Amino acid sequence: MYILGIETSCDETAAAIVKDGREILSNVVVSQIDIFKEYGGVIPEVAARSHLEAMLPVVNKALKDANLTWEQIDKIAVTHTPGLLGSLLIGTLTARTLAILHDKPLYPVHHLKSHIYANWLTGNQPEFPLLALVVSGGHTQIIRMTKHNQFEIIGTTRDDAVGECFDKVAKILGLPYPGGPSISKAAKNGNPEKYKFPHPKLSSPLRSSIKNASSLAPSVPSPSLDFSFSGLKTAVLREVQKAVNKPISYPSHELKNLLTEQQVADFAASFENTATDILIENLKRALEKCPDTKSICLAGGVSANELLRKKTARAFSNVSAVFFPSANLSGDNAAMVAAAAFYEIESGVPPTDPYKVSLAPRSPIDK
Ligand code: KG4
Ligand code: ZN
Repeated sequence: MYILGIETSCDETAAAIVKDGREILSNVVVSQIDIFKEYGGVIPEVAARSHLEAMLPVVNKALKDANLTWEQIDKIAVTHTPGLLGSLLIGTLTARTLAILHDKPLYPVHHLKSHIYANWLTGNQPEFPLLALVVSGGHTQIIRMTKHNQFEIIGTTRDDAVGECFDKVAKILGLPYPGGPSISKAAKNGNPEKYKFPHPKLSSPLRSSIKNASSLAPSVPSPSLDFSFSGLKTAVLREVQKAVNKPISYPSHELKNLLTEQQVADFAASFENTATDILIENLKRALEKCPDTKSICLAGGVSANELLRKKTARAFSNVSAVFFPSANLSGDNAAMVAAAAFYEIESGVPPTDPYKVSLAPRSPIDK
């Protein structure tokens, strides 16, 4: 089955063709990073206009690279939630029009499902039950799956997403957008133990669905599996203010000139060390709650982080199989959209009427 995937949820215009949910025949991504570097972040209106310009050439190139014609495409899949509304509009309207024009079944796909299914596109495949740590610019969640296309959120962020936290700390340190790769690069020359930042202690009970899940260990005490990253961002800001001896507020372009290169490196390394430790600690707790877990999957843009990959492999590979998407599939792309759609179809999900595709800037994966 050949599925054409389309992705435009944020600042990447992408189209890909995947055979049977596994084999990537083409994977075209046009990134708007160079545009948004100048502004230090995504401007939704500009992102939508850029998608409009790039969309049709990107779809054409995906067909050409795969050496396929429209007659050979079986289905079309497109990201319809969550994301920037203007960006989602361009991708979904394109997919709807192509589905009507070429008479193909259309599958709107949830963006986080796609990130998780990027793990099915390289080498061995994860086994169920699994825990997915979804870490992106907009989300930080631990999701349990007991079979294909079934998702239970067992931990989620109560404030900022971890990717957002990387981006904001990068701004504090005067590092370029996107913050994740910039922080990692700067951290290479820094001391991860130089600054100690607190870990959030979230002690409220777990959500009821988890407490009641019969497959989970029943009598383990219940620390929360939720995350909080806004405190970490503030802690970095306070420490930076101390270092430069000025109460500069966030975001400030002044800081860049007040910190030495070594200080930036030490802050970046200490922050990256703390942020990844927080993720690993919660994942460990989730594994205690779900002792039947066979695979652990990282998913989303932050899963490109090398330190996070190393720590995950070190912490879990003796208890469960650990999966990461390959480097070019960690960030936003359309191959993962086609893969997610394949497993939705296999699970019996029917196509959607192309005249009635819903859009939502936010919506949970388990609804
Ligand atoms: O999945 P993604 O490409 O888009 C969303 O769905 O949000 O994730 C983007 C996020 C950004 O916050 C970016 O800074 C972060 O992923 N990111 C990283 C790395 N590469 C990208 N964070 C940490 N380390 C990286 N190497
Ligand atoms: Zn994403």
